[in-house]
Amino acid sequence: MREKVVVFTGAGVSAESGLRTFRDMGGYWREYSIESVASPEGWKAKPQAVLEFYNERRKAVLAASPNAAHVAISALEAQFDVVVITQNIDDLHERAGSTKVMHVHGEILKARSSVDPSLIYPLATPTLEMGQLCGHGSQLRPDVVWFGEPVRFMAEAAMAFASASKILTIGTSLSVYPAAGLVSEARPSAEKCLVAPEIDDPPPGHHFFRGKAARIVPHIASCWLEGRRPW
Ligand code: APR
Repeated sequence: MREKVVVFTGAGVSAESGLRTFRDMGGYWREYSIESVASPEGWKAKPQAVLEFYNERRKAVLAASPNAAHVAISALEAQFDVVVITQNIDDLHERAGSTKVMHVHGEILKARSSVDPSLIYPLATPTLEMGQLCGHGSQLRPDVVWFGEPVRFMAEAAMAFASASKILTIGTSLSVYPAAGLVSEARPSAEKCLVAPEIDDPPPGHHFFRGKAARIVPHIASCWLEGRRPW
């Protein structure tokens, strides 16, 4: 039975791939209002503006490549039973080779019906435009979770945290619930590492590695693969 590892990621793991975070300098929420582009109310009021916001982000995702952190995370699968639980809507974990990825906030490369959340389509084009309709004839929207909408895979993610012996949390401000609350599902005995350039108040029991993911995550992964503690 292989040792279970949970890797929990936020926008910071994709920062060195050139994708913007949300709350850092230059982050999306420094330029856009969440209500206008990432809420059902914003979609209802100005769907075109919402489509344009995600079209720009989708183009950035398609132009980006996985960085050394994504690659190191996928390399862990050589020895461990790894589940990646990500708040990110990009596909960089999958492109780096990770095989079990839960997108708790949805996926930007998919579209879904605006009237039936179960109707999901892979996006064949880089942009999603007004007039592209679902099977019921309603406007397609990005298959992402907006503020106020139900977050996905939470029960499975909580179970993964509770059964993991190693937990690696990377590039998240841990400021958006319920996803951020997942870290408290970890067993006290689990080895817990946290990677970010800075963090306001690290959750209890975590070894905090101050710095960027592309430099630190390969170090942690190689220590784990060699059976060593990374600190
Ligand atoms: N390496 C590691 N961490 C980094 C790097 C980097 N190169 N660059 C930035 N960070 C860290 C920041 O210090 C910060 O702690 O990544 C974190 C990014 O925090 P946020 O911008 O708040 O992103 P995230 O935590 O993923 O946001 C959670 O909020 O708006 C919603 O749905 C959105 O999924 C997102 C959620």
